Amino acid sequence: MQPTLIWDLPLRLFHWLLAASFLGAWLTSESDQWLSLHSFFGYLMLGLIGFRLAWGLAGSRYARFSSFLYGPRAGLEYLRQAIAGSAERHLGHNPAGSQAAFLLLGLGLLAAFSGLFVQGGEEQHGAAAVGVLGFAAGKAINEVHGLLANLMLLVVFGHLAGVALESWLHKENLVRSMVTGLKAAAPGTPAVRPHTLIGLLLLVAVAAFGAWWFFYAWHEPVERLGGHDDAANEAPHVAFVGKTLPESAKWQEECGSCHLAFHPSLLPARSWQALLAGQNRHFGDDLGLDAATVSDLLAFAVPNAAEQGATEAAWKLNRSVPAGSTPLRISETPYWTKKHREIADADWQNPKVKSKANCAACHRDAEAGTFEDAAMQVQN
Ligand code: HEC
Ligand code: HEC
Repeated sequence: MQPTLIWDLPLRLFHWLLAASFLGAWLTSESDQWLSLHSFFGYLMLGLIGFRLAWGLAGSRYARFSSFLYGPRAGLEYLRQAIAGSAERHLGHNPAGSQAAFLLLGLGLLAAFSGLFVQGGEEQHGAAAVGVLGFAAGKAINEVHGLLANLMLLVVFGHLAGVALESWLHKENLVRSMVTGLKAAAPGTPAVRPHTLIGLLLLVAVAAFGAWWFFYAWHEPVERLGGHDDAANEAPHVAFVGKTLPESAKWQEECGSCHLAFHPSLLPARSWQALLAGQNRHFGDDLGLDAATVSDLLAFAVPNAAEQGATEAAWKLNRSVPAGSTPLRISETPYWTKKHREIADADWQNPKVKSKANCAACHRDAEAGTFEDAAMQVQN
């Protein structure tokens, strides 16, 4: 037996990059703060799987789908033999491993693809944000997206168990083979072509995509996230800039002197009516507004209130408030409470934060009212 090249370079790179992007997407799935990174891994996965589909037709012998087209029955039979210790060694994918490979490709494609529609619906961003999908559709697709990701995790565990079993059964290190490409084969077994150039091109493409995506994260992020810069809006797939919400100079002037002028989209219309009706006892202050000013302010707040669902935050916040209640604080609405319950006491007590109402301390786009995921930044 002698070491022989079985896995070409593009296939090995694809394998480890896909594993890394799955892990990355998994680790960034919990907090909205990481959504931009999470989307990056999703797009990367789509691109990688697209490449793999082509390589399954054009790649070297063991990379080609035709070399491991086994049915589920053959896979199960192989598994039974492997457990009994009698399974035959394969240079390429064995029948059970091939099932895992096809399942991972299929689930990865569906998970990444559904993520595109979650992003288009829930965030109104990315390649699928063409105005057809609403927040509710995005939320529903998100359930499916999560299910697919969980299924994929299950197959990943199955794949890892299979690799361990197979390595032990045939006394060989399969993980190392996927790094070096080499497996022990009988003398005279033809080695595959390494395809080094295509491997390097794949690497350059991934690096270029990463540089393009993250360039904007370093480049003037604060202004861009304000959502007022039209040039910035031309590349929403990178910076995820929120759309520009209506503004009012009067609102800014009367409501922006003691605290941030909270955008009207953050409370239902009845809350603004109640707040302004009680403007002479506003959280311990008398705002001293005359009737004309109050009516001017309402003329801006009511038509732009949360019910309009102008942003994801507005839509979700409004949904969370029971019909019979009229919250006077954004920070007491169920959605707000849920989104901030994991923030540590120490973060609230940070001198740069002090009050829950100081949204701008952690949301760089609080002034614009968009509350984009990519604009969050907990002070420390
Ligand atoms: C004189 C200062 C002052 C002005 C002017 C003012 N507010 Fe306030 N506002 C306060 C204080 C004080 C609080 C309580 C802040 C806290 O709990 O940290 C508050 C809290 C709020 C909250 C609740 C924030 C939350 O979710 O916890 C809203 C909503 C609000 N103000 C709306 C308005 C609107 C609308 C206007 C303009 C009509 C306005 N405020 C003008 C002083 C002011
Ligand atoms: C101490 C920092 C901090 C302050 C102050 C703060 N937030 Fe947040 N906010 C966060 C973090 C962190 C998250 C992300 C939670 C998560 O992981 O899902 C968040 C999430 C949100 C979201 C959900 C965004 C989305 O797309 O899912 C909204 C909306 C929001 N905050 C609004 C507000 C408003 C309005 C205020 C002021 C009344 C405020 N926040 C004050 C830290 C803060």
